[in-house]
Amino acid sequence: MTSSIANMNYAIIGGASGMGLATVHTLLARGAKVAVCDISEKNLEALLARLSMKDSSKCFTKTVDVTDRSAIDCFFLEAKERFGSINGIANFAGTGGHGLGTEAVWQTSEDEYNFIMNLNVKGLFNVLSSALVPGFLAEHASVVHIGSIFSQKGFLNGAVFAASKHAALGMVRSAAKETGSRVRVNCVLPGVIDTPMHRANLERVKNFTPTPATPIPRDGNAQEVANVVAFLLSEESSFVTGDAWNVDGGANA
Ligand SMILES: NC(=O)c1ccc[n+]([C@@H]2O[C@H](COP(=O)([O-])OP(=O)(O)OC[C@H]3O[C@@H](n4cnc5c(N)ncnc54)[C@H](O)[C@@H]3O)[C@@H](O)[C@H]2O)c1
Repeated sequence: MTSSIANMNYAIIGGASGMGLATVHTLLARGAKVAVCDISEKNLEALLARLSMKDSSKCFTKTVDVTDRSAIDCFFLEAKERFGSINGIANFAGTGGHGLGTEAVWQTSEDEYNFIMNLNVKGLFNVLSSALVPGFLAEHASVVHIGSIFSQKGFLNGAVFAASKHAALGMVRSAAKETGSRVRVNCVLPGVIDTPMHRANLERVKNFTPTPATPIPRDGNAQEVANVVAFLLSEESSFVTGDAWNVDGGANA
């Protein structure tokens, strides 16, 4: 069976590393065209360098900071101009902040609060408020945002991070109500996933174990998240909207 992703056009934000990068490769492998933006120019160059000739002809990249609304507008416009239409968007750009797992709420600085909220909440606002203007995306398009299992529960010494991920889920669910059958909007909630972000947390904090004793007793990998994101971006999930999909080895069981 040909994937419904073949011949579709997607825009991926934060696609140069980790789960975003795995999603870019998954969509290209299934025959889609993919516009990729990220704040890291170096990682975007590395992504392009690794693509086959065939895949690089179906992909373009742009250095964009998701917190910059006009840069996001330009990225989406360029993707639509180059591809003719946009069938789906996934936003992976996010942060745990600089002190995740080590700072109680009363130890968290106002600068840190602003950094986390700006990226995890305003970044999503920029994406949704730009992309969901009626008529901009193709009919029955799908938008996926990457929250966290901490979109639904507290994080010990990570209150602002958890608050930002709760806010993102609220925005996704509300947007789904506003767009109805025109555009589906969903959130994926990863548990602990082995990515450069997670590895940086492990280096920073000894015994970083935000989800101890999951039924599947290991970390997830980026491809396992990409598979669920690709499903939500595809027509196979045509009756799914306003939902939160855990990819967490059963951490919430
Ligand atoms: N790894 C985990 O265990 C885990 C668990 C739950 C949720 N998450 C969330 O998943 C998402 C992806 O994380 P990952 O683990 O793949 O991390 P990652 O660091 O490997 O990838 C994140 C990408 O986002 C990009 N980015 C960061 N700030 C940006 C900005 N301002 N504008 C544009 N791009 C920006 C980075 O350059 C990077 O390429 C994040 O929102 C993160 O909070 C991760």
